[in-house]
Amino acid sequence: MKRIAVSSFKGGTAKTSTSLNIAAAFAKFHKKKVLLIDFDAQANLTTGLGYDPDEHDSMAGVLQGEKKIEDVVLHTHIKNLDLIPADTWLERVEVTGSLAADRYSHERLRAVLSNIDYDIVIIDTPPSLSWLTESALIASDYSLVCATPEFYSVKGLERLGQFMDNLSHRNPLEVIGVALSFWNPRGKSNNEFQELIDHTFPGKLLDAKVRRDIQVSEASIHGKSIFEVFPKSRAAEDYKSLSKELLKRMYTQTNSKLDFEQEDASNFSSSKSSSVLEHGAIS
Ligand SMILES: Nc1ncnc2c1ncn2[C@@H]1O[C@H](COP(=O)(O)OP(=O)(O)OP(=O)(O)O)[C@@H](O)[C@H]1O
Ligand SMILES: [Mg+2]
Repeated sequence: MKRIAVSSFKGGTAKTSTSLNIAAAFAKFHKKKVLLIDFDAQANLTTGLGYDPDEHDSMAGVLQGEKKIEDVVLHTHIKNLDLIPADTWLERVEVTGSLAADRYSHERLRAVLSNIDYDIVIIDTPPSLSWLTESALIASDYSLVCATPEFYSVKGLERLGQFMDNLSHRNPLEVIGVALSFWNPRGKSNNEFQELIDHTFPGKLLDAKVRRDIQVSEASIHGKSIFEVFPKSRAAEDYKSLSKELLKRMYTQTNSKLDFEQEDASNFSSSKSSSVLEHGAIS
Protein backbone atom coordinates (compact mmCIF):
# COMPACT_ATOMS: atom_id res chain seq x y z
CA MET A 1 0.00 0.00 0.00
CA LYS A 2 1.29 3.44 -0.99
CA ARG A 3 0.16 6.43 1.06
CA ILE A 4 0.53 9.89 -0.45
CA ALA A 5 -0.02 13.23 1.33
CA VAL A 6 -0.84 15.98 -1.17
CA SER A 7 0.46 19.17 0.32
CA SER A 8 1.58 22.76 -0.12
CA PHE A 9 1.96 25.62 2.30
CA LYS A 10 0.09 27.99 0.03
CA GLY A 11 -3.62 27.99 -0.85
CA GLY A 12 -5.01 27.44 -4.31
CA THR A 13 -2.18 25.30 -5.70
CA ALA A 14 -4.63 22.65 -7.01
CA LYS A 15 -4.07 20.15 -4.18
CA THR A 16 -7.72 19.12 -4.17
CA SER A 17 -8.11 19.00 -7.96
CA THR A 18 -4.89 17.00 -8.25
CA SER A 19 -5.91 14.57 -5.49
CA LEU A 20 -9.30 13.95 -7.06
CA ASN A 21 -8.17 13.54 -10.64
CA ILE A 22 -5.09 11.40 -10.07
CA ALA A 23 -7.13 9.18 -7.73
CA ALA A 24 -9.77 8.81 -10.44
CA ALA A 25 -7.08 8.02 -13.01
CA PHE A 26 -5.45 5.38 -10.79
CA ALA A 27 -8.84 3.73 -10.19
CA LYS A 28 -10.31 4.00 -13.70
CA PHE A 29 -7.33 3.36 -15.94
CA HIS A 30 -4.87 1.46 -13.79
CA LYS A 31 -7.32 -0.69 -11.81
CA LYS A 32 -5.84 0.42 -8.51
CA LYS A 33 -8.00 0.21 -5.40
CA VAL A 34 -7.84 3.79 -4.16
CA LEU A 35 -8.91 5.55 -0.97
CA LEU A 36 -9.16 9.35 -1.00
CA ILE A 37 -9.16 11.08 2.37
CA ASP A 38 -10.46 14.64 2.59
CA PHE A 39 -8.37 15.96 5.45
CA ASP A 40 -9.31 19.62 5.05
CA ALA A 41 -12.29 21.14 6.89
CA GLN A 42 -13.07 23.21 3.76
CA ALA A 43 -14.33 19.84 2.40
CA ASN A 44 -13.70 20.80 -1.24
CA LEU A 45 -12.75 17.26 -2.18
CA THR A 46 -15.96 15.96 -0.61
CA THR A 47 -18.14 18.41 -2.55
CA GLY A 48 -15.98 17.93 -5.64
CA LEU A 49 -17.06 14.29 -5.64
CA GLY A 50 -20.71 15.22 -5.24
CA TYR A 51 -21.22 14.71 -1.49
CA ASP A 52 -22.67 17.09 1.10
CA PRO A 53 -20.15 17.32 3.98
CA ASP A 54 -22.98 17.95 6.47
CA GLU A 55 -24.52 14.58 5.70
CA HIS A 56 -21.56 12.30 6.36
CA ASP A 57 -19.04 11.48 9.06
CA SER A 58 -15.42 12.41 8.55
CA MET A 59 -12.15 10.96 9.80
CA ALA A 60 -12.61 13.03 13.00
CA GLY A 61 -14.69 10.38 14.78
CA VAL A 62 -12.23 7.66 13.77
CA LEU A 63 -9.26 9.63 15.11
CA GLN A 64 -11.16 10.16 18.36
CA GLY A 65 -11.65 6.39 18.67
CA GLU A 66 -15.43 6.72 18.43
CA LYS A 67 -15.88 5.14 15.00
CA LYS A 68 -14.29 2.50 12.84
CA ILE A 69 -12.76 3.50 9.53
CA GLU A 70 -15.18 1.26 7.61
CA ASP A 71 -18.10 3.24 9.11
CA VAL A 72 -16.98 6.44 7.39
CA VAL A 73 -15.88 5.12 3.98
CA LEU A 74 -18.11 6.08 1.04
CA HIS A 75 -18.02 4.06 -2.17
CA THR A 76 -18.03 6.67 -4.93
CA HIS A 77 -19.64 6.37 -8.37
CA ILE A 78 -16.18 5.45 -9.72
CA LYS A 79 -15.38 1.76 -9.43
CA ASN A 80 -12.43 1.11 -7.07
CA LEU A 81 -12.50 4.65 -5.68
CA ASP A 82 -13.55 5.21 -2.06
CA LEU A 83 -13.73 8.48 -0.14
CA ILE A 84 -13.56 9.46 3.50
CA PRO A 85 -15.24 12.87 3.51
CA ALA A 86 -14.41 15.95 5.59
CA ASP A 87 -16.53 17.99 7.95
CA THR A 88 -16.00 21.10 10.05
CA TRP A 89 -15.09 19.04 13.13
CA LEU A 90 -11.74 18.31 11.48
CA GLU A 91 -10.76 21.96 11.89
CA ARG A 92 -10.29 21.59 15.66
CA VAL A 93 -10.19 17.84 16.05
CA GLU A 94 -6.81 17.86 17.80
CA VAL A 95 -8.05 20.02 20.68
CA THR A 96 -11.23 18.05 21.33
CA GLY A 97 -12.06 14.70 22.91
CA SER A 98 -9.40 12.10 23.48
CA LEU A 99 -6.93 13.78 21.11
CA ALA A 100 -6.57 16.86 23.32
CA ALA A 101 -4.83 14.87 26.05
CA ASP A 102 -2.74 12.68 23.74
CA ARG A 103 0.88 13.79 23.34
CA TYR A 104 1.17 11.46 20.39
CA SER A 105 -2.03 12.52 18.65
CA HIS A 106 -0.08 13.05 15.41
CA GLU A 107 0.50 9.33 15.18
CA ARG A 108 -3.18 8.39 15.19
CA LEU A 109 -3.82 8.72 11.47
CA ARG A 110 -0.82 6.54 10.74
CA ALA A 111 -2.16 3.87 13.11
CA VAL A 112 -5.64 4.04 11.54
CA LEU A 113 -4.20 3.65 8.03
CA SER A 114 -1.89 0.78 8.89
CA ASN A 115 -4.61 -1.83 8.76
CA ILE A 116 -6.58 -1.16 5.61
CA ASP A 117 -6.68 -2.85 2.26
CA TYR A 118 -6.02 -0.40 -0.58
CA ASP A 119 -3.33 -0.11 -3.26
CA ILE A 120 -3.08 3.65 -2.92
CA VAL A 121 -4.28 6.11 -0.26
CA ILE A 122 -4.31 9.82 -1.15
CA ILE A 123 -4.72 12.42 1.60
CA ASP A 124 -5.74 15.94 0.59
CA THR A 125 -4.47 18.44 3.17
CA PRO A 126 -5.31 22.05 4.05
CA PRO A 127 -3.18 25.01 2.87
CA SER A 128 -1.34 25.33 6.19
CA LEU A 129 1.31 23.55 8.19
CA SER A 130 -1.32 22.58 10.76
CA TRP A 131 -1.93 19.51 12.91
CA LEU A 132 -3.88 17.96 10.02
CA THR A 133 -1.04 18.45 7.52
CA GLU A 134 1.54 17.20 10.00
CA SER A 135 -0.54 14.11 10.76
CA ALA A 136 -1.00 13.41 7.06
CA LEU A 137 2.75 13.69 6.41
CA ILE A 138 3.53 11.40 9.37
CA ALA A 139 1.00 8.85 8.08
CA SER A 140 2.38 8.79 4.52
CA ASP A 141 5.12 7.11 2.53
CA TYR A 142 5.21 9.95 0.01
CA SER A 143 4.46 13.62 -0.24
CA LEU A 144 3.18 15.03 -3.51
CA VAL A 145 3.97 18.73 -3.45
CA CYS A 146 1.66 21.05 -5.40
CA ALA A 147 2.69 24.43 -6.77
CA THR A 148 1.72 26.97 -9.38
CA PRO A 149 4.12 28.85 -11.67
CA GLU A 150 4.13 31.98 -9.51
CA PHE A 151 6.96 33.43 -7.48
CA TYR A 152 5.31 33.16 -4.04
CA SER A 153 4.11 29.63 -4.69
CA VAL A 154 7.57 28.46 -5.67
CA LYS A 155 9.26 30.34 -2.80
CA GLY A 156 6.74 28.79 -0.36
CA LEU A 157 8.15 25.37 -1.23
CA GLU A 158 11.27 26.13 0.82
CA ARG A 159 9.18 26.40 3.95
CA LEU A 160 7.38 23.15 3.19
CA GLY A 161 10.75 21.47 2.57
CA GLN A 162 12.01 22.62 5.97
CA PHE A 163 8.80 21.45 7.63
CA MET A 164 9.20 17.99 6.09
CA ASP A 165 12.88 17.88 7.09
CA ASN A 166 11.87 18.59 10.69
CA LEU A 167 9.44 15.67 10.56
CA SER A 168 11.93 13.27 9.02
CA HIS A 169 13.09 11.83 12.35
CA ARG A 170 9.48 10.77 13.04
CA ASN A 171 8.67 9.62 9.53
CA PRO A 172 11.21 9.54 6.71
CA LEU A 173 8.78 10.25 3.91
CA GLU A 174 9.90 10.73 0.33
CA VAL A 175 8.87 13.59 -1.92
CA ILE A 176 7.40 11.68 -4.85
CA GLY A 177 7.34 14.82 -6.96
CA VAL A 178 6.41 18.44 -7.39
CA ALA A 179 3.29 18.86 -9.54
CA LEU A 180 2.80 22.19 -11.30
CA SER A 181 -0.75 23.26 -12.17
CA PHE A 182 -2.10 26.30 -14.02
CA TRP A 183 0.81 25.72 -16.39
CA ASN A 184 1.25 28.01 -19.35
CA PRO A 185 3.63 26.30 -21.80
CA ARG A 186 4.61 29.73 -23.14
CA GLY A 187 5.11 31.42 -19.75
CA LYS A 188 7.99 33.91 -19.79
CA SER A 189 9.47 32.83 -16.45
CA ASN A 190 9.01 29.07 -16.84
CA ASN A 191 12.74 28.32 -16.75
CA GLU A 192 13.28 30.41 -13.62
CA PHE A 193 10.42 28.66 -11.82
CA GLN A 194 11.69 25.24 -12.78
CA GLU A 195 15.21 26.11 -11.61
CA LEU A 196 13.91 27.39 -8.26
CA ILE A 197 11.90 24.21 -7.74
CA ASP A 198 14.90 22.11 -8.65
CA HIS A 199 16.96 24.01 -6.12
CA THR A 200 14.50 23.22 -3.29
CA PHE A 201 13.55 19.69 -4.36
CA PRO A 202 16.34 18.46 -6.68
CA GLY A 203 15.14 16.11 -9.39
CA LYS A 204 11.57 16.11 -8.09
CA LEU A 205 9.76 18.36 -10.57
CA LEU A 206 7.40 16.16 -12.55
CA ASP A 207 7.55 16.36 -16.35
CA ALA A 208 3.76 16.21 -16.61
CA LYS A 209 2.36 19.68 -15.92
CA VAL A 210 -1.35 20.44 -15.66
CA ARG A 211 -2.22 23.30 -17.97
CA ARG A 212 -4.75 25.95 -17.01
CA ASP A 213 -8.15 24.65 -18.07
CA ILE A 214 -11.51 25.99 -16.89
CA GLN A 215 -12.95 22.49 -17.29
CA VAL A 216 -11.18 21.44 -14.07
CA SER A 217 -13.51 23.75 -12.07
CA GLU A 218 -16.51 22.86 -14.19
CA ALA A 219 -16.06 19.14 -13.53
CA SER A 220 -16.04 19.68 -9.76
CA ILE A 221 -19.26 21.67 -10.01
CA HIS A 222 -20.76 18.46 -11.45
CA GLY A 223 -19.30 16.48 -8.52
CA LYS A 224 -17.19 14.36 -10.87
CA SER A 225 -13.66 13.83 -12.05
CA ILE A 226 -12.49 15.46 -15.27
CA PHE A 227 -12.51 12.07 -17.02
CA GLU A 228 -16.24 11.65 -16.67
CA VAL A 229 -17.31 15.14 -17.69
CA PHE A 230 -14.60 16.29 -20.12
CA PRO A 231 -12.64 13.20 -21.13
CA LYS A 232 -11.13 14.92 -24.14
CA SER A 233 -10.05 18.10 -22.39
CA ARG A 234 -6.40 19.06 -22.12
CA ALA A 235 -6.64 18.76 -18.32
CA ALA A 236 -7.81 15.14 -18.70
CA GLU A 237 -4.80 14.49 -20.91
CA ASP A 238 -2.46 16.19 -18.42
CA TYR A 239 -3.84 14.34 -15.39
CA LYS A 240 -3.44 11.04 -17.23
CA SER A 241 0.21 11.82 -17.93
CA LEU A 242 0.72 12.93 -14.34
CA SER A 243 -0.81 9.77 -12.91
CA LYS A 244 1.35 7.58 -15.15
CA GLU A 245 4.50 9.43 -14.15
CA LEU A 246 3.60 9.07 -10.47
CA LEU A 247 2.95 5.34 -10.84
CA LYS A 248 6.28 4.94 -12.54
CA ARG A 249 8.01 6.68 -9.63
CA MET A 250 6.11 4.70 -7.00
CA TYR A 251 6.46 1.30 -8.58
CA THR A 252 10.02 1.42 -9.81
CA GLN A 253 9.96 -2.19 -10.93
CA THR A 254 7.76 -2.16 -13.99
CA ASN A 255 6.30 -5.43 -15.11
CA SER A 256 5.05 -6.43 -18.50
CA LYS A 257 1.37 -6.23 -17.67
CA LEU A 258 -0.37 -3.49 -19.63
CA ASP A 259 -2.69 -2.09 -17.00
CA PHE A 260 -3.78 1.11 -18.68
CA GLU A 261 -7.20 -0.26 -19.42
CA GLN A 262 -10.32 1.67 -20.07
CA GLU A 263 -13.24 1.13 -17.76
CA ASP A 264 -15.59 2.96 -20.04
CA ALA A 265 -14.42 2.77 -23.62
CA SER A 266 -17.11 5.19 -24.76
CA ASN A 267 -15.36 8.00 -22.92
CA PHE A 268 -12.25 7.84 -25.02
CA SER A 269 -11.33 8.21 -28.64
CA SER A 270 -9.18 5.62 -30.34
CA SER A 271 -6.35 8.16 -30.56
CA LYS A 272 -6.41 8.41 -26.76
CA SER A 273 -6.18 4.68 -26.28
CA SER A 274 -3.27 4.44 -28.69
CA SER A 275 -1.28 6.66 -26.32
CA VAL A 276 -1.27 3.69 -23.96
CA LEU A 277 1.03 1.89 -26.29
CA GLU A 278 3.27 4.93 -26.70
CA HIS A 279 3.68 5.30 -22.96
CA GLY A 280 4.20 1.61 -22.32
CA ALA A 281 3.29 -0.45 -19.30
CA ILE A 282 3.18 0.87 -15.80
CA SER A 283 2.03 -1.25 -12.93
N1 LIG B 1 -5.43 23.28 -14.11
C1 LIG B 1 -6.38 24.13 -13.69
N2 LIG B 1 -6.90 25.05 -14.53
C2 LIG B 1 -7.87 25.91 -14.13
N3 LIG B 1 -8.42 25.91 -12.90
C3 LIG B 1 -7.94 25.01 -12.01
C4 LIG B 1 -6.90 24.07 -12.34
N4 LIG B 1 -6.64 23.33 -11.25
C5 LIG B 1 -7.47 23.75 -10.29
N5 LIG B 1 -8.26 24.77 -10.73
C6 LIG B 1 -9.26 25.53 -9.98
O1 LIG B 1 -8.57 26.40 -9.09
C7 LIG B 1 -9.23 26.49 -7.84
C8 LIG B 1 -8.27 26.02 -6.74
O2 LIG B 1 -7.98 24.64 -6.96
P1 LIG B 1 -7.98 23.61 -5.75
O3 LIG B 1 -9.19 23.78 -4.90
O4 LIG B 1 -7.72 22.27 -6.34
O5 LIG B 1 -6.70 24.14 -4.97
P2 LIG B 1 -6.25 23.78 -3.49
O6 LIG B 1 -4.77 23.86 -3.46
O7 LIG B 1 -6.86 22.51 -3.04
O8 LIG B 1 -6.88 24.99 -2.68
P3 LIG B 1 -6.90 25.12 -1.07
O9 LIG B 1 -5.52 25.55 -0.71
O10 LIG B 1 -7.93 26.19 -0.80
O11 LIG B 1 -7.27 23.80 -0.51
C9 LIG B 1 -10.47 25.61 -7.95
O12 LIG B 1 -11.56 26.43 -8.33
C10 LIG B 1 -10.13 24.66 -9.08
O13 LIG B 1 -11.29 24.20 -9.77
MG1 LIG C 1 -7.96 22.10 -1.31
